[in-house]
Amino acid sequence: MKVLVINGSPKGSRSNTLRLTSAFLEGMGEGERRDLTLSQMNIRSCLGCFSCWNKTPGQCVLRDDMASALEDILWADVIVWSFPLYYFSLPGGLKTFLDRMLPLSLPFMSRDSESGGHPSRYDMSGKRHVVISTCGFYTAKGNYDGVTAIFDHLCGKNNYTTIFCGQGELFRVKELPGRTGEYLAHVKTAGQEFAAGGISRETWNALDTLLFPREVFEAMADASWGVEKTGGETEESLSFTRQMAALYNKSAWPGKDIILEMDYTDIGKRYQLLLTQEGSRVITEDFREFTTKIETPYTVWKAIAAGEISGQDAMMEGKYRVKGDFSLMLKWDSFFNGGAAPKEAPAEKKSSTDMNILLIPWITLWVAGPIHGFYGALITIAVTAAVPLVFYQNRKTIYDVLSGLLVSCCAMAMLLGLEARVALPLAYFAFGAMWSFSCFRKIPLTAHYSMNDYNGEEALRNPLFMKTNRILTCCWGVLYLLTPIWTYFLMGTELASWTGAINSVLPMAMGIFTAWFQKWYPAKVARG
Ligand SMILES: Cc1cc2nc3c(=O)[nH]c(=O)nc-3n(C[C@H](O)[C@H](O)[C@H](O)COP(=O)(O)O)c2cc1C
Repeated sequence: MKVLVINGSPKGSRSNTLRLTSAFLEGMGEGERRDLTLSQMNIRSCLGCFSCWNKTPGQCVLRDDMASALEDILWADVIVWSFPLYYFSLPGGLKTFLDRMLPLSLPFMSRDSESGGHPSRYDMSGKRHVVISTCGFYTAKGNYDGVTAIFDHLCGKNNYTTIFCGQGELFRVKELPGRTGEYLAHVKTAGQEFAAGGISRETWNALDTLLFPREVFEAMADASWGVEKTGGETEESLSFTRQMAALYNKSAWPGKDIILEMDYTDIGKRYQLLLTQEGSRVITEDFREFTTKIETPYTVWKAIAAGEISGQDAMMEGKYRVKGDFSLMLKWDSFFNGGAAPKEAPAEKKSSTDMNILLIPWITLWVAGPIHGFYGALITIAVTAAVPLVFYQNRKTIYDVLSGLLVSCCAMAMLLGLEARVALPLAYFAFGAMWSFSCFRKIPLTAHYSMNDYNGEEALRNPLFMKTNRILTCCWGVLYLLTPIWTYFLMGTELASWTGAINSVLPMAMGIFTAWFQKWYPAKVARG
């Protein structure tokens, strides 16, 4: 396929629209390609002399880069028009280019169109056109009527593919790679589907979705200019902080207002973000008592926002400190996602794990086993056998499987006559060994389960989350490695049948410790 790309943005290679066009072309795959960057070409305005129709048919009297551009148009199978929306229409350079395409038409009047027209000098019928454009308003809807009218005449109504995207300026903001990257991925898919025949409804719908809700985008856009509505320049750090505040997702409001203080230590600037049920606001004076305070060099925070360094790594390395309530940091992505709809888990993927699946067979053995060895073991095996039935709606971990195996072995041994006094301590030991072993694995056991509350798989890339979980997994491992000692003695006393109940006291205390530690420890690290 021979593809001609006409870049009509005066910004040339810095064009926002060109990012979409590049993604589309990437999706289309390999092929012969020619590029026309109009801002770098010498294309003069049409003189209106009609020489290309009468004196020198098909040839323009002007000697400039347009002659070879016309050849490129005739050469191409696919023409990709890439340009920004200017005053609800085309940028001037592209309009000049269209005017200079007159030699491609014949002078005679054609009856093909209601409003009149000219037949083409060449057979253009096999060519496919793609029109890609970004604009500065929050939506493309209602802004492209002028452009559509032009391309309806140029290519024929419904005879070309369009990707019109609002919020175009966001494509150059490196602090927003997530959302724009997502959109570009859909544009790439559109390119793939276009090359294969046509763009699917699903992809159209994705391309039709706003990058950010209107109010978020407009607040960000207003803050980005670095000038105040009342006149005068805005401090760069204030402008940046306002854009950050604009990304606040009010549906994450936790039931009480948050005052997030940003203390940029290297430039001596301090701002407070007031995050409420109604939205966000940046305060520059009359500061209140903060809920959470981030002390950071401005350069570090900018680098984190731009994705140049990881926020979690920077915290572990002590590049910034967090004071006050740490829970905001743990849920940062849901607070500052620009009000994006929560990502739906793909239908076929069972996304969350459940520690109950792991615990229930063990608890059954530990409670029922001491009461009646044989029946306790039998019930345990039945419960363990039933566990796979719930896997269909949960993702199972290696520990769910290992656990099922270990607990079944212990119960089988009891059925085959192994004394409960020996089998139960063995079961506790096996359980403790499994936890302790996992401390040395890349992902400690508890992380597999607690990640559900912290952005799923994303949490596994967070060193602080992993370290917290490694410590907790070790604590639980040690507890269960020690439990067999007193269990063995307890099973020899009159309290034997109460062993399950007695042995749940320490885990309960450990549960309380866990709930406290997983908040306290990250906050302690963050305080530096
Ligand atoms: C002179 C001028 C006129 C513009 N007119 C409009 C407009 O009518 N509607 C709109 O939504 N954006 C308008 N914009 C914003 C651009 O369309 C937007 O910034 C676009 O993303 C720029 O794309 P580019 O980087 O590919 O050139 C205008 C920009 C300029 C400089």
